[in-house]
Amino acid sequence: MDTLTLIRPDDWHLHLRDGAALEAVVGATARQFARAIVMPNLKPPVTTVAQAMAYRERILAALGKAVVADPACAGFEPLMTLYLTDRTSPDEIVLARASGQVHAVKLYPAGATTNSDAGVSSVAAVHPALEAMQREGLPLLIHGEVVDASVDIFDREAVFIETVLEPLRRDFPALRIVFEHITTREAAQYVAQASGPIAATITAHHLLYERNALFIGGIRPHWYCLPVLKREVHRRALLEAATSGSTRFFLGTDSAPHARHLKENACGCAGCYTAPHALELYAAAFESVGALDRLEGFASFFGPDFYGLARNTARITLNRQTWTVPDVLPLGDDTIVPLAAGEPLAWRLAD
Ligand code: NCD
Ligand code: ZN
Repeated sequence: MDTLTLIRPDDWHLHLRDGAALEAVVGATARQFARAIVMPNLKPPVTTVAQAMAYRERILAALGKAVVADPACAGFEPLMTLYLTDRTSPDEIVLARASGQVHAVKLYPAGATTNSDAGVSSVAAVHPALEAMQREGLPLLIHGEVVDASVDIFDREAVFIETVLEPLRRDFPALRIVFEHITTREAAQYVAQASGPIAATITAHHLLYERNALFIGGIRPHWYCLPVLKREVHRRALLEAATSGSTRFFLGTDSAPHARHLKENACGCAGCYTAPHALELYAAAFESVGALDRLEGFASFFGPDFYGLARNTARITLNRQTWTVPDVLPLGDDTIVPLAAGEPLAWRLAD
C-alpha cells in the first residue's frame, strides 16, 4: 500500500500559544487538521469566555496569514477551551455552553505542567463548576497527574486515577471526561473498562517512544514532555488501545512548541513540537503494528463523535515517501526543533 487516504482528521489536544509563536505554528496544524481543541494555558490563562473569544480571533488572524503562504491551511477551525480555576463560576460555564465556540474546560492540577500555576488546588474547590458542566454537557479535559512531590514522576498518572479521577467520576457520573494524553497501561485500562462517558487522547510520541528515548547518547531535551515518556510496557498498552478500534481513544497531538533555547537549557521546558508531521508520526506508529486500517477511526471519527460534532467530509492523502524531519524550523525571532528532527519518516502528507 503506497497511499493512505483518510477523512481529514482533527487534533483533540493542541497548544497554539500566542503572538509570534502562534503565527509561526498555526499553519502546521491547519495543513493537516480540520479542527483542533486549543489548550488555554497561555500567560495569563484563558479563564473566561470573553478571553476565549478574543484568543479565537487572534488565532483566525494568524491563520489568515498562514493561508496566504499556503492555501492548504484554509478552513481550519479552532475549538476553544477554558482553563478551570478555583474561581470558575457556574455562570461562566453556562456562558461557555451558550457561546457555541467553547467546547470544553481544562483541569490542570496546580503546578502539574507548563503554565499551570493558576490551576485547580483541589477537586472540592471546583465542585460548583463541575456540577454546571455536568448539567450543561460541557466536557472536562483532565491533565491526569498528581502534583505531590513525594510521588515519583513516573507514577503520578497511575496515582491520579485512584486518588482523584475515580472519586471525581463517582461524584459526577454523567460528566463527560477526556483523560488527556494518557501515558500508562493503567490509564488505558481504566478508560477502556470504565462505565460512563469517558474517553482519552493519545499523542504520537507516547505511541512511538518509551522513556529511554530521553537518554540515548546523552540527555535529549526534545523528547521531554509531561506526562513524561514511560516504560516500554506502557507504550505497548497505548499502542494496543489506539489501534483497538475502541471509540474511547482518539488523536490528540499535545504538540507543545517551545523555542529551542528554552528546551536546550539547564532547566528545559516540557513539550514536544509535533504539529508539522503529526499524521506522519501517527502513521508510523500504526504501521509498526500493522494497523494502518485503524488510523482513520482514531484520527477522524471517534473525536467528533465524543464531542458531539459532525465528522469532516473532505479527505487527505499520505504517500509512502521517505523524507527527513527538518533539524530546525523558524519560530518568530527564535527557532524550534521538531520532535524526531533529522530522522526519516516513511509517510508524507500529499500537497
Ligand atoms: C504542555 C505545554 O508546553 O504547554 N507541555 C507538555 O509537556 N505537554 C503542557 C501540557 O500539556 O502538559
Ligand atoms: Zn497539552
